Amino acid sequence: MYKKSRNKINIGLIGLGTIGSGVAKFLMARRGLLLKRTGIDFNLSLVCDKDLSLKRDVFLPKGMLTKDTDKVINDPDIHIIVELIGGIHPAKEIVIEALSKGKHVVTANKLLLASEGEEIFQKAKISNREVYFEASVAGGIPIIKAIREGMVSNRFSSVFGILNGTSNYILSSMSSECSSFKTALKEAQSKGYAEKDPSLDIKGMDSSHKLAILSLLAFGKRVDLDDIYVEGIEDISNLDIQYAKEFGYGIKLLAIAKCHGNELEARVHPTLLPLEHLLSSVSGAYNAIFIEADLVGKQLFYGQGAGKLPTTSAVISDIVDAGHKIICGKNSVKQIIPKDSEIKKLRKMDEVVTRYYAHFSAIDKPGVLANIANLLGRHNISIASVVQKERREAHIVPIVMLTHEAKELDMQAALSRINKLPAIKKKSIVIRLEK
Ligand code: HSE
Repeated sequence: MYKKSRNKINIGLIGLGTIGSGVAKFLMARRGLLLKRTGIDFNLSLVCDKDLSLKRDVFLPKGMLTKDTDKVINDPDIHIIVELIGGIHPAKEIVIEALSKGKHVVTANKLLLASEGEEIFQKAKISNREVYFEASVAGGIPIIKAIREGMVSNRFSSVFGILNGTSNYILSSMSSECSSFKTALKEAQSKGYAEKDPSLDIKGMDSSHKLAILSLLAFGKRVDLDDIYVEGIEDISNLDIQYAKEFGYGIKLLAIAKCHGNELEARVHPTLLPLEHLLSSVSGAYNAIFIEADLVGKQLFYGQGAGKLPTTSAVISDIVDAGHKIICGKNSVKQIIPKDSEIKKLRKMDEVVTRYYAHFSAIDKPGVLANIANLLGRHNISIASVVQKERREAHIVPIVMLTHEAKELDMQAALSRINKLPAIKKKSIVIRLEK
């Protein structure tokens, strides 16, 4: 049981889906524990969902559940609104309205923050309220608090990681079980990792939403979603996973933000990583974020990036932060979003320099490899290693290579000329490589 406390904070929860029911259940079950640990009594006072008839894994006392969002937002006793309905509308209107009614907001809504963040944070500022969003990136991993507070004295040079559990689950099971893409996706959906629309996961969009949020925190740079280069994992085949392994690499969907002086590059795409890289051993639906900053050096954050309980843990940590702000009048850092960015512009994808894996499907006859190498050379691309595999289909051989560092613009120009060679029989596969 919990003792009565003068520091009582009332919470209104909007959205009683998978995460919402976890948050409701553990806010009530851990009320005493939270009071002991924080000195604040967190009281779940109202819960709103559009469907009251659904069976849920949480028992709510009579009168706590309503269909009426306004009843929650307008309740003068509620201090914190937790938005867990997802999507842009009506989540945006709910958050804006809650802020104008003087509530602090906790949300797990990455799409909302990545696309409407500017307006929402501006509204929070003029309302003198906060928006907390730990659960929007990497589920249970406290990455936002780590960047915001744990590394507050650092300047960041890169943040990159596996931010989508569904894609990582698919690539891991294609690699270790030789599953097909389709089977692995079905499994990820049945385990509840995938978004309602799984194309957001496999096309890399979910990762780009999370990368936009991390870039804002680490580099103070608001990155427009349209400016992030995004490529998904749909074209990754078991064959490329196998060839990459033979070169000593695994394939991961990475979200990458790197700072070069006053420029930032932000991109999401499948990436070859050395098998001995720490991120290569992150398998299944796990997420991991690799950070390089000037004082801490290299850091790796690893954990469950999706699912009911890890996300519940992150949402409750935000509720505690909001409670602390209400009781003490301030956060441990003055600005949740840094305002001192040195980043002036986003580097265009054409200018990005990286290494590449390339897989050409060519007719097996003299001079073909020489033609490909010649076109690469003419575009300043130097080959690091090359293997021609045995024929898999009549007269067609896979030519697989790794390049040294090259500019994306040059690679794309070479590729479009190579794809036009009469000896090339399928669209060439190119995957970027990181060390
Ligand atoms: N669909 C997301 C994932 C869930 O697969 O990681 C968490 O944002």
